[in-house]
Amino acid sequence: MRLRKKKNAPVRFERCADYTLETEGLLEKFNEYFDPAKPLDMEIGSGKGRFIVTLAEQNPVRQYISIERVIDCLVMAMEKAKNKELHNIRFFCLDAAELTDCFPGECIDILYLNFSDPWPKARYAKRRLTHRRMVAAYLPLLKKEGKICFKTDNRPLFDFSVEEFADLGFRLEELTYDLHSTDTPNIMTEYEERFSAMGTPINRFVAYPTEKTYEMLKGIKLLKEEH
Ligand SMILES: C[S@@+](CC[C@H](N)C(=O)[O-])C[C@H]1O[C@@H](n2cnc3c(N)ncnc32)[C@H](O)[C@@H]1O
Repeated sequence: MRLRKKKNAPVRFERCADYTLETEGLLEKFNEYFDPAKPLDMEIGSGKGRFIVTLAEQNPVRQYISIERVIDCLVMAMEKAKNKELHNIRFFCLDAAELTDCFPGECIDILYLNFSDPWPKARYAKRRLTHRRMVAAYLPLLKKEGKICFKTDNRPLFDFSVEEFADLGFRLEELTYDLHSTDTPNIMTEYEERFSAMGTPINRFVAYPTEKTYEMLKGIKLLKEEH
């Protein structure tokens, strides 16, 4: 989906300033903004935000963080939350590779990856959010007993991700090649609605890290260390 560049995105972002936080110093003040007694879930690559905003609306006792690196998309998600006057969600214009600089370890209960960019060319595989280099960048945020929920219409990306996660020792559950034919509760993302309307089946799995996962990811050089 091409998004026309929005000149006024920074202004719109400022209007929704209550829905974001300065990342500088956030690590030290994290518990002032997010109640450690309540569950905290994160979506990476939220796009226009329908999924995470709807989740936040439906689950007021949970807390939510939306990560999106394109500000034009992020402001649309922030405006959705502002219009609904939600108080349990914050938005950050960040790349997944930067997350451990901003958030403390083991703070997230559920991590959502929805319709992540497939990066079909092999030379860009490292940019896939389910590539081990990316997983190594965000897994430290997930609680040891946490889980990653991944869904996509893109079968080659899904097959790659199943192989990559299995190789990393994740325990894969609820794996389906046709989510909409199951009775799993589901909130459709903007991309999901578009692709399922065209008849494309939606693939999904839920992944739980194991000791092997942490062992394997120890030796992996992070993307940000390469630049
Ligand atoms: C194909 S769109 C899907 C958007 C939304 N999840 C949906 O299903 O409608 C993928 C989104 O992930 C964002 N994204 C891709 N790589 C990212 C990264 N490394 N860090 C943060 N966001 C990323 C893109 O900017 C884009 O908005």
